[in-house]
Amino acid sequence: MGPFQGGMKDTRRASPPLTDPSPYDAAMYLTDRVLGRMNVARLEWAERAGWLANQYPFLAARMPIAPQENLIEELSAETDELGEFDAWKVYGNVKRKPNQVRSSRILGRFYADMVRRLRPMNVVEFGTAFGVSGMYFTAALRQLGAGRLWTFEPNVSWARLAEKNLAAVGGDFVLTVGTFEDNVDCIAGPVDLALIDAVHTSEWVESQFGLVVERCRPGAVVLVDDIDFSDDMRRCWKKLARDPRGRGSVAVAGHLGVIEIA
Ligand SMILES: C[S@@+](CC[C@H](N)C(=O)[O-])C[C@H]1O[C@@H](n2cnc3c(N)ncnc32)[C@H](O)[C@@H]1O
Repeated sequence: MGPFQGGMKDTRRASPPLTDPSPYDAAMYLTDRVLGRMNVARLEWAERAGWLANQYPFLAARMPIAPQENLIEELSAETDELGEFDAWKVYGNVKRKPNQVRSSRILGRFYADMVRRLRPMNVVEFGTAFGVSGMYFTAALRQLGAGRLWTFEPNVSWARLAEKNLAAVGGDFVLTVGTFEDNVDCIAGPVDLALIDAVHTSEWVESQFGLVVERCRPGAVVLVDDIDFSDDMRRCWKKLARDPRGRGSVAVAGHLGVIEIA
């Protein structure tokens, strides 16, 4: 595995997250920002097939308000007010404010909507960070009245805050303080829905995708965040989107890869 440095998201970037964006990529980046304000996410299909294709028949999807969304956003804002925190030691000497690493509200809505449609028993995510994506998952699971979130975070101080946030939302979750790789066997039962949101390099993501898929039931959905993080991640998404272990794949708002497992 390569070093972690360079794989930590920072949402303060004001320009498209590509080293050298083409005019098309730059236009799509702006389009996604405008659509996002209208609570709409652009869908870019790589393989228009399977359950996913039936669920999302159009080239864009409206994102319904998530259960407990106001509470989640309040908790997230309060956590951000606490200031900067050291990133996990392997990233090097890096600090981040909570809002710099969290999933956006529109993607949170997408996670919650995916839970509503898929009705998963086991949702897996890594990393937890400060618990924002996890809160969107657990709030939706709680509304369904079934299912558990298995979430993994090696940064002890971030995990502590995430635990508080997740508990405030309620719902069934198991937060493991440690890496996904070292603790993956604690997941009880087949995985129905997973979010890969840890180190954003192809080397790490491809290996983690393999570990996740081995534990997925057929028809499970795997989400890969930050597919536009770098040219390396864009190549990684192109490869994963055509991976024979999948049977349908779509990019949401140019940022989140969604793969249905065959
Ligand atoms: C971009 S943040 C996650 C954001 C979070 N999913 C959210 O939307 O609120 C990435 C997190 O992954 C964690 N991480 C890095 N490598 C990991 C691994 N192998 N297993 C679990 N977590 C990891 C980092 O410590 C960091 O907290």
